[in-house]
Amino acid sequence: MIAADRPVAPLSLPLILAPMPLIRPAAAADLPACREIYAYHVLNGVGTFEETPPDAAEFAQRFAAVTDCGLPWLVAEKAGAIMGYVYASAYLTRSAYRFTVQDSIYVAPDAVGGGVGRALLCALVARCEELGFRRMVAIIGGSENAGSRGLHRACGFVDAGVLPAVGFKFGQWRDGVLMHRPLGEGADTLPTQDPAARLTPLR
Ligand SMILES: CC(C)(COP(=O)(O)OP(=O)(O)OC[C@H]1O[C@@H](n2cnc3c(N)ncnc32)[C@H](O)[C@@H]1OP(=O)(O)O)[C@@H](O)C(=O)NCCC(=O)NCCS
Repeated sequence: MIAADRPVAPLSLPLILAPMPLIRPAAAADLPACREIYAYHVLNGVGTFEETPPDAAEFAQRFAAVTDCGLPWLVAEKAGAIMGYVYASAYLTRSAYRFTVQDSIYVAPDAVGGGVGRALLCALVARCEELGFRRMVAIIGGSENAGSRGLHRACGFVDAGVLPAVGFKFGQWRDGVLMHRPLGEGADTLPTQDPAARLTPLR
């Protein structure tokens, strides 16, 4: 018999049954939802240093710049709704940086904290490893961005340093936080061939 005043541990069943989002490559039809998520974070957070949301044409151009290179742009879909997206792009475009990519990740405000970011970033890491990249860099907007710093740490990134006050948003100076993680064999071995995806569009 359970004593009336003894707290009963809550069942973890709903957590176990909570459906994980489907992570899949983005299609053009997903762009309005991705743009809406991004616009929210442009207007309400420091994760991006952009201050005006891009219009549909500009956003489509950014999508094409990623996917035309064969780089991954992934979305998280749950019950038909886009909960977040992530993509890889060039860290820097000089040719010697060709084994290094940078990630960008944004989760819908009502889905933050629910595991979508982790699912997206893990999938991006795995895909970039398949493509032959050796390092992923995160340039995180704002030292105070605990969500992004925590997510990247949870996905194997380590701190590389802080660029103090390189941004100015919402009336305050904002730091850029650098984090990185190896992909595949990282720097343990020399590459035998270039990555399967390019870092600059052919056109
Ligand atoms: C950063 C962001 C993508 C994280 O996505 P998310 O879906 O909220 O993250 P998850 O729920 O998958 O969290 C995964 C792990 O990250 C860490 N984490 C997430 N939020 C955190 C927070 N606020 N503080 C500390 N750690 C946090 C935890 O380790 C968490 O694992 P746990 O839940 O088992 O503890 C999301 O918060 C977001 O879109 N933020 C605004 C935009 C932004 O800053 N993008 C990054 C640009 S660099």
